[in-house]
Amino acid sequence: KTAIEVKIVEVGPRDGLQNEKKIVPTHVKVDFINKLSRTGLKSIEVTSFVSPKWVPQMGDNTEVFKTIDKLPGICYPVLVPNTLGLESAIAVGAKEIAVFASASEGFSRKNTNCSIEVGIQRIKQVINVAEKQNIKIRGYISCVVGCPYDGFIKPSEVAKLSEILLSLGCYEISLGDTIGVGTKTTIDNMIRSVLSVASADQIAIHCHDTYGQALANICTAFDAGVKVADSSVSGLGGCPYAKGASGNVATEDLVYMLHGLGANTGVDLNQLIDIGQFISKAIDKPTGSKVNKALYQN
Ligand code: HMG
Ligand code: MG
Repeated sequence: KTAIEVKIVEVGPRDGLQNEKKIVPTHVKVDFINKLSRTGLKSIEVTSFVSPKWVPQMGDNTEVFKTIDKLPGICYPVLVPNTLGLESAIAVGAKEIAVFASASEGFSRKNTNCSIEVGIQRIKQVINVAEKQNIKIRGYISCVVGCPYDGFIKPSEVAKLSEILLSLGCYEISLGDTIGVGTKTTIDNMIRSVLSVASADQIAIHCHDTYGQALANICTAFDAGVKVADSSVSGLGGCPYAKGASGNVATEDLVYMLHGLGANTGVDLNQLIDIGQFISKAIDKPTGSKVNKALYQN
């Protein structure tokens, strides 16, 4: 059996930090991203061009993007909610954006102040402009198994939205278990449903670890043929509009698991441990990574 190839999308600087109440200084974010750029990670979501009234922590998006080192061979996607955000992303020279929609009506309204349908129209407008600029577009779907407002979400709803986002021009759909309620069974059912409209190489898995199921759920996705997983160093994260959502699966934990599976990640775990410590100290919180706790030597 050949070693599995898995790509990690590091979302710590965006998903990880967006929920932090205390504003992290811009130079700390830049330092954080520059360190991540040197670990072997190939994709780092660095900020979001959302409304600063909604998410003040990301208000320094332009400065962060302009200041970070952009190393060759590494993608630095940014999250974009509408054409206004896209204009800012274009102005700083972003080459990849991520658009986002929700499989649940309730979360769509809380997170983007609009229905799923209107959200899709916004995404369409964003993609129309982005494609003309040769910008790559990744699509997120939130609440793929459960919603903090609407409860259980049907796999068919996720498949339907995946099909739409792919047809609009997203090269990949990242399936987000926003509140981490998924288990092996619900994640498997959801992914099988999405696989009826997408190929495995068009899917990524994005697990928050609220219920401690993230690694098991990611493994389930890998078993279904998925080869891309999102994670956040130190398990930072959460969404301000998803009550009770805790951090993403920790990148250190994901890399440790993948190395155990014999996967080639190309990522240096020791460096990740140091970066996890660096960012935890910066936000004055203990690391959310078990592997970091186990391996860190102070
Ligand atoms: P709205 O208030 O309905 O927007 O927000 P609006 O168009 O009515 O504009 C209101 C004001 O915001 C205006 O300013 C706009 O200019 C400004 P004013 O005239 O009042 O001075 N504005 C902007 N400013 C800067 N950049 C922009 C922008 N857009 C409007 N792009 C909107 C609608 C979508 C903008 C808002 O709801 C928003 O920003 N939502 C984003 C919330 C967010 O960032 N959530 C977290 C990311 S998603 C996530 O974490 C899930 C994920 O990780 C996957 C998972 O885990 O499930 C991806
Ligand atoms: Mg998320």
